[in-house]
Amino acid sequence: MEKFLPFLLLCLLIFLRKVNGQGDMITTTKFIKDGETIVSSDGTFELGFFSPGNTSTNRYVGIWYKKISVITPVWVANRLVPLTNKSGVLKVIQSGGVALQNVTNSTIWSTNSSRFVQNPVAQLLDTGNFVLRDANDPNPENFLWQSFDYPTDTLIANMKLGRDLITGFERYLSSWKSSDDPAPGDYTYHCDPTGYPQDVMRKGADVIYRAGPWNGLRWSGAPNMVNNSITSFGLVMNNKEIYYKYELVNKSVVSALVVKPNGNTMRLIWIAKTQGWVNYHSADADDCDTYKLCGAYGTCNILSDPVCHCLDKFEPKHQDDWNRADWTSGCVRKTPLNCTGDGFIMYSGVKLPDTRTSWFNETMSLDECRAVCLRNCSCMGYTNLDIRNGGSGCLIWIEELIDIRQLSQSGQDIYIRMSASEIGSAGSSSKGDKSVILAVALPLLFALILLGLGVGLILYKRRRREDPVVMTRGRFSGHNNKNDNTNQSHHEDFELPLLDLLTLINATDNFSIANKIGEGGFGLVYKGVLEGGQEVAVKRLSETSKQGIHEFKNEVNCIAKLQHRNLVKLLGCCVQGEEKMLVYEYLQNKSLDIYIFDEERSALLDWPKRFNIINGIARGLMYLHQDSRLRIIHRDLKASNVLLDTEMNPKISDFGMARSFGGDETGANTRRVVGTYGYMSPEYAVDGIFSVKSDVFSFGVLVLEIVSGKKNRRFVHPDHHLNLLGHVNTMSQLLCVKGLYSKYLLMSSRVVYKLLTLSMYIT
Ligand SMILES: *[C@@H]1O[C@H](CO)[C@@H](O)[C@H](O)[C@H]1NC(C)=O
Ligand SMILES: *[C@@H]1O[C@H](CO)[C@@H](O)[C@H](O)[C@H]1NC(C)=O
Ligand SMILES: *[C@@H]1O[C@H](CO)[C@@H](O)[C@H](O)[C@H]1NC(C)=O
Ligand SMILES: *[C@@H]1O[C@H](CO)[C@@H](O)[C@H](O)[C@H]1NC(C)=O
Ligand SMILES: *[C@@H]1O[C@H](CO)[C@@H](O)[C@H](O)[C@H]1NC(C)=O
Ligand SMILES: *[C@@H]1O[C@H](CO)[C@@H](O)[C@H](O)[C@H]1NC(C)=O
Ligand SMILES: *[C@@H]1O[C@H](CO)[C@@H](O)[C@H](O)[C@H]1NC(C)=O
Ligand SMILES: *[C@@H]1O[C@H](CO)[C@@H](O)[C@H](O)[C@H]1NC(C)=O
Ligand SMILES: *[C@@H]1O[C@H](CO)[C@@H](O)[C@H](O)[C@H]1NC(C)=O
Ligand SMILES: *[C@@H]1O[C@H](CO)[C@@H](O)[C@H](O)[C@H]1NC(C)=O
Repeated sequence: MEKFLPFLLLCLLIFLRKVNGQGDMITTTKFIKDGETIVSSDGTFELGFFSPGNTSTNRYVGIWYKKISVITPVWVANRLVPLTNKSGVLKVIQSGGVALQNVTNSTIWSTNSSRFVQNPVAQLLDTGNFVLRDANDPNPENFLWQSFDYPTDTLIANMKLGRDLITGFERYLSSWKSSDDPAPGDYTYHCDPTGYPQDVMRKGADVIYRAGPWNGLRWSGAPNMVNNSITSFGLVMNNKEIYYKYELVNKSVVSALVVKPNGNTMRLIWIAKTQGWVNYHSADADDCDTYKLCGAYGTCNILSDPVCHCLDKFEPKHQDDWNRADWTSGCVRKTPLNCTGDGFIMYSGVKLPDTRTSWFNETMSLDECRAVCLRNCSCMGYTNLDIRNGGSGCLIWIEELIDIRQLSQSGQDIYIRMSASEIGSAGSSSKGDKSVILAVALPLLFALILLGLGVGLILYKRRRREDPVVMTRGRFSGHNNKNDNTNQSHHEDFELPLLDLLTLINATDNFSIANKIGEGGFGLVYKGVLEGGQEVAVKRLSETSKQGIHEFKNEVNCIAKLQHRNLVKLLGCCVQGEEKMLVYEYLQNKSLDIYIFDEERSALLDWPKRFNIINGIARGLMYLHQDSRLRIIHRDLKASNVLLDTEMNPKISDFGMARSFGGDETGANTRRVVGTYGYMSPEYAVDGIFSVKSDVFSFGVLVLEIVSGKKNRRFVHPDHHLNLLGHVNTMSQLLCVKGLYSKYLLMSSRVVYKLLTLSMYIT
């Protein structure tokens, strides 16, 4: 019995709490005084009185997460008029309104509702919405007033950010003045429907940042804010209203979008383990996010120096200004337009320009769009409105194109009006390609050596250094692609050999188990011998995705164009009935994992060989990320996906698979996280956010594994339960990389990027 006593007491407590309970409602007879709260029925949100920050003694009524140890108000009622002491009372008044009164019953703050009702009650809903309604109203959703209509600095799930087109009423976020004063500050965050909806951040009346127009999946300039395993995003647009909102897929996750007093707008996620907020994604992350930095027709590339350039076929309007790094005057066409004889040039990989001077039609095709734009001499560019399913709809810009930037991944295409005489001429952008490659390869090599040194030092000298270096997440989100396939009119179309199913059945002995050489995320791999005696590896794609044969061939053709000595070569494919297969070159020495994790075989890999392997993987990855046309994120880089040729040169396999066959990038079907635990970056594993950084993370793990010969996941240490990465982490030791980072800060920006992305994970 004694054993159960505490349990019984607990039950009693819970019971009493229920009876006495704070409840989730305020009525005309039930007030709450300072010190009392109401809690939403599922216990997620709490409403009551609080003092903001560390120093303020002012009292405010607000809503915060009940389950979180740090009071984080997501809404504040009397943000302009604080109570000066704890004498406040929050009431529902008979005439239908919520009022906050002070000790003399003077109303400090109140809601204004337009209707008189019999039985007004105010209730805190599970969504965090504090609503006023008539308890006699059969429709509980018929709110007289709701806090969601008056957002403060936080957008929580299901809140609307946008405009009611009928009343003109706008819901937007506004920062606090400071961390201890919730009064509206300078920064506001809007979903601005002017022209075509886009997300904008203003300081006072001026736009300072734009996430770009909605493209069906996300804001054009915010590649990370797409549906994932935690949140789903959407723009709702109809005759009545236009608004942006998000929902939590996993309801147990606590996540909010907040505009900080300094204008930083970020998506925060509460991590229970560390009892702290983590900044998952910052809007306005780098210089290139500064509105209009490079002026009209200028494009910003965070990894070039200077960051601003004119788009191809444009030149600075005032060269003197540009020489002084004042780019605001922007660029003009080298050849002026002549309206009647104009055409268009496609620019890829961009964040779309400001759409406040745009026009759109949701049903037009790209060709119709082009025609419309061509007819109107003030139309300067056009593109698809919605990039899903190959693109649809029409978005045209009537005036100059401003605020363009290059995006490393998920940039879009835009067609810009150009005089006919410019269109015929061959692209001038290709000159200097060689020097670019050199500029990339050399620093990367150097960075790798530095990294190698760092890792070596750590693993073998175990030096300790404690100076912490703080890295902001999400800062270096972009990377270079300014000379990526813009307007290359010549395209070398080479078709991939289509192999007959029967040929492959013969080659692999009817896919016999004996010939199975591997198993990947997308199907089994068999060794096969073609009739001429050529050895091949045949990947039999398991899932028959919804992809049609035509799309499949297109995708495969694209992958086939990725050719690099550190990528496994695709030799052909086979599509027949339900079967889809890819045929690769066969590599004699199998995969890296069978060497590095094996005591005997690892002896075959001496240090120069290992270094060569690391370099090769880096080169292949770099090609996938930056230098190829498709810009591939591998998403499943690991030792077993690195194959070795006869000379022990590494070749990355399975690239392009996630993009082409994983399916979740287009949001079409799966939301499955592709990848392998142990190699997955935290934000990818948890949130499904993937970027080149996720690959860099996996690469980092791989480097550790190659150097140490230990599996990240299998790593065992007598003193603790951490994996290899955790072990290296606690040894605090890749700090040398950070030391190197500051020392070489002035080196090529690419190296810094590499080091940063690496060290970001190492911290
Ligand atoms: C409040 O105090 C804590 C601990 O002293 C500090 O870490 C935190 O930054 C302070 N918060 C503000 C908003 O000043
Ligand atoms: C709040 O201040 C008023 C006068 O300023 C005072 O009458 C009242 O007692 C105070 N209430 C509390 C709870 O301190
Ligand atoms: C304030 O209102 C409460 C309840 O409505 C009442 O009991 C109290 O006397 C009032 N106080 C003043 C100073 O009017
Ligand atoms: C209560 O609020 C009224 C109106 O704002 C104000 O005039 C009065 O001084 C306040 N009383 C106290 C005790 O704070
Ligand atoms: C309620 O007050 C807000 C300002 O606080 C005002 O913009 C709005 O028009 C008012 N609504 C009604 C119905 O009076
Ligand atoms: C994202 O998720 C929402 C809610 O599940 C859905 O309505 C929307 O269509 C999804 N967006 C995309 C691009 O798949
Ligand atoms: C939701 O998130 C929690 C952690 O916050 C996790 O434990 C749980 O497995 C997740 N649920 C699903 C269905 O992903
Ligand atoms: C515009 O271009 C067309 C076709 O190239 C040419 O015939 C015409 O003379 C040009 N007009 C002007 C004003 O340059
Ligand atoms: C959009 O374009 C389609 C096809 O050209 C046309 O039928 C429709 O009226 C247009 N809608 C608007 C709003 O202009
Ligand atoms: C071009 O389109 C804009 C926006 O639809 C319109 O205001 C303008 O009058 C058009 N100009 C011409 C010459 O048609």
